[in-house]
Amino acid sequence: MNAGPVRVAHPIDENSAPELCIVVPVFNERDNVRALVMELAAVLDGLAWEVIFVDDDSPDGTAQAVRELDLYRARVRCLQRIGRRGLSTACTEGMLASSAPFLAVMDGDLQHDPKILPAMLGLLRGGEVELAVGSRYVEGGSTADWNSRRRAVSRLATRLGHVLAPDELRDPMSGFFMLRRSLLEQSVRNLSSLGFKILLDIFASCGRPIVFREVPYVFRTRRAGVSKLDSLVAWEYLMLLADKLVGRWVPVRFIAFAAVGAAGVAVHLSVLNVSYRALGAAFVTAQGIATGVSIVFNYALNNLLTYRDKRRRGLHWLTGLVSFVAACSIGAVANVSVAAYLFDRHLPWVIAALGGITAGAVWNYAISSVYTWNSPKRS
Ligand code: GDD
Ligand code: MN
Repeated sequence: MNAGPVRVAHPIDENSAPELCIVVPVFNERDNVRALVMELAAVLDGLAWEVIFVDDDSPDGTAQAVRELDLYRARVRCLQRIGRRGLSTACTEGMLASSAPFLAVMDGDLQHDPKILPAMLGLLRGGEVELAVGSRYVEGGSTADWNSRRRAVSRLATRLGHVLAPDELRDPMSGFFMLRRSLLEQSVRNLSSLGFKILLDIFASCGRPIVFREVPYVFRTRRAGVSKLDSLVAWEYLMLLADKLVGRWVPVRFIAFAAVGAAGVAVHLSVLNVSYRALGAAFVTAQGIATGVSIVFNYALNNLLTYRDKRRRGLHWLTGLVSFVAACSIGAVANVSVAAYLFDRHLPWVIAALGGITAGAVWNYAISSVYTWNSPKRS
């Protein structure tokens, strides 16, 4: 497809300013970093490259493992973030930490084949394109040994991805790409930075069509460590799509809070149904019980989804619950009194309950965002 990068005439030594920076987000990849650096050194021999591992303070000591690497030390850096998580922000901050004119992003688990890096660099250097995407879905690329379920999930996500990316891009979910610095600079301030999909985010944030080319590769099997792509990643992906589609008008966190709230309403009504209708409790008592249960439910789910980036765990989960209950107690009082008032006016019990819930919800969102999940969003 192309002749590969043109080698520069003067010898590259350890002091040469890097032309290419490879940004590698890592979380618990201690046993993969050494092999990756060796592979990079082999395929990029003769080029001025550097690699920046962006580690979110992995408990397995990945950052330490990077700093202790005795190979290519001048080319290997570690950006260690404390109290932060997130693949997209890790990639962005890694790219911003380099001065290289060409920036690549690849996973740290050896699933992305570094062999195509020289071809990607060749495309960018030639000025034909501003972005080269490592692709599993063009001729010559593949997902190797994926089972049919993972293939199907990936196909669905890819289809959704085309809401944000051009149809010609066959692998919009790719986490393996290389771009010119100018493209980063044009999109970086508009990035949503939610979740995993930094490439899609760049497409949606650039504000103009991007000149790109896909370079095939075979997605390899992970050798050490485990995938961090859990089911919550699907939620983050939906939030990224929502943010890019309506985020200009409605904050995506509010959309999430409302979605959780809707689920909370279902829980509320079920509990109310059981205690008021089946068990015969007084309406106000039943509404009180249902409110209590749905507060805990809402807290747990918001902590898991809406405030995934500020999630409280262990003891902090409990103190968070206490602060959530305290912050929402005004909302709960408003909820029960409004519902009781409406019920006394002989409105149907469901309508009375919904009226109470709406009054409480407004308080809950405003107050909990300030008191319960109050750490800075993305510093
Ligand atoms: N710094 C940091 N912070 N790194 C992270 C985090 C995080 O919160 N979460 C994951 N990583 C790192 C992992 O250590 C790995 O190097 C890389 O990001 C990708 O994570 P994996 O857990 O290996 O993801 P995957 O293999 O399931 O998904 C990859 O392939 C998909 C293709 O289907 C990713 O590249 C996806 O973006 C891609 O869509
Ligand atoms: Mn992986």
